[in-house]
Amino acid sequence: MLAKVISCSVSGVDGLPVQVEVDLAQGLPSFSTVGLPEGAVREAKDRVRAAIKNSGYEFPQRRITVNLAPAAVKKEGTGYDLPIALGILAAGGMLPSDLLARTAIVGELSLDGSVRPVPGVLPMALAARQEGLTRFLVPAANAAEAAIVQGLEIYGIERLDQAVEFLVGRIALTPLVIDPAELFARHDGYAVDFADVKGQQYAKRAMEIAAAGGHNLLLSGVPGTGKTMMARRLPTILPDLTLDEAIETTKIFSTAGLLPEQTSLLVTRPFRSPHHTVSDAGLIGGGQMPRPGEVSLAHNGVLFLDELPEFKKHVLEVLRQPLEDGTVTIARAATSLNFPARFMLVAAMNPCPCGYLGDQIRACTCSPLQVQRYRSRLSGPLLDRIDMHIDVPAVQVKELIGQPAGEPSSVIRERVNRARTRQRQRFAGAAKLYCNAQMSAKEVKHFCRLDAASADLLNQSITRLGLSARAYHRILKIALTIADLAEVKAPSLAHVAEAIQYRRVQFEL
Ligand SMILES: Nc1ncnc2c1ncn2[C@@H]1O[C@H](COP(=O)(O)OP(=O)(O)OP(=O)(O)O)[C@@H](O)[C@H]1O
Ligand SMILES: [Mg+2]
Repeated sequence: MLAKVISCSVSGVDGLPVQVEVDLAQGLPSFSTVGLPEGAVREAKDRVRAAIKNSGYEFPQRRITVNLAPAAVKKEGTGYDLPIALGILAAGGMLPSDLLARTAIVGELSLDGSVRPVPGVLPMALAARQEGLTRFLVPAANAAEAAIVQGLEIYGIERLDQAVEFLVGRIALTPLVIDPAELFARHDGYAVDFADVKGQQYAKRAMEIAAAGGHNLLLSGVPGTGKTMMARRLPTILPDLTLDEAIETTKIFSTAGLLPEQTSLLVTRPFRSPHHTVSDAGLIGGGQMPRPGEVSLAHNGVLFLDELPEFKKHVLEVLRQPLEDGTVTIARAATSLNFPARFMLVAAMNPCPCGYLGDQIRACTCSPLQVQRYRSRLSGPLLDRIDMHIDVPAVQVKELIGQPAGEPSSVIRERVNRARTRQRQRFAGAAKLYCNAQMSAKEVKHFCRLDAASADLLNQSITRLGLSARAYHRILKIALTIADLAEVKAPSLAHVAEAIQYRRVQFEL
């Protein structure tokens, strides 16, 4: 009277196989769940009982024990409903247990027996494939996202009785097959375009470099010069996602339950722009069972912080770890989880509270103390992690009216894509290294060799501007990206000089 069903849970953003064991014993009818079930899992018994009865099966009047193994890991969520129900039917003899072998099952049950979607199905499918399972029964609404995993048969299930009929072979279901290449081809453009931005050649060039190499960027300037406007157009020039990157990003959205239904894969880079009232848990991730925050949702994409000094200081400080390591670690009493968080930080700010410090026409009305207080909200360590500091001056009226439309995003994106392809070839052997900004100091040394004149210039500038060792490496990375855009092997003197110039403004702030 024992049945075993394989299910899956999610820990961080990775799937973890869970064995659901159901035992029916003689005795007073009861239902107990062991193996560290949390709230929603403990409530599974009521849903399961109603779903079994309402699907036309008999609910066994026995002492039912459900064990979720490994017993030491906390179990959360509603995805165990369907495996528990099938386990009970199998243990009660209504379903031969051997039919459940090599099959992973997940899904929430409604009281009427229909199967509802659950978060995290993509990482679960990846784990199921790694475990060597051959098929995966998932809620029909989640089938598209699971089917991106090749080499595993994905069946979308709508009702409990449908799952039973399928398992015993009375009905046939076709596994869902999805071709990732087709998804990438289907993407249909953006509503905005860089051609809308007049003038601002310097800032546009900087954004192209930042997009090509994945560098962090701070735009600073008087109000109404197009900082927000340009940042919002950044997604239109970001390089195409590779399949590996797309799966990494989709996994995070899937665990957070933010993947739209019937979406298989996010084929564009995420662009997250949290409001400045965001909490540190919202930004970094958190909660009792930790969930990914904005930095993780921006993984492989952009985190845009508009009006940077308005963010609470301690909220900005928590960005320091992910900016350096590309991951966040969230420690709780029970668990410690790692979420990936390799994003490109783009921030915008005014130079002072009134906004007009350094403007050609309008006078600034702030006192030195006010300016100092405003800037002190941004700490040195945070600014040091931002590779490019760009001044965005006011556009002249004649530029606004007279000039023809600027370069369209599609042209810029082509250059960015070519530069990114060079980077991918450069890092072909290295795991999880996709762009120049992600290089470690050791990799910078290996991949970015300067000629004597460029090295001299860089050394002099470092001393004169009093830059940190971190800044030194970051300038080298930008110089390498500029060389990639120019389609040459190594940075030249001009490339290094340009890279240094993007770093300088910070000290005039
Ligand atoms: N370079 C530009 N080319 C075309 N339109 C522009 C340009 N700069 C600003 N605009 C117009 O001004 C509007 C406001 O610009 P935007 O919101 O980007 O300014 P901002 O620099 O973010 O200002 P703030 O510092 O106040 O946030 C834009 O929506 C756009 O219509
Ligand atoms: Mg703005």
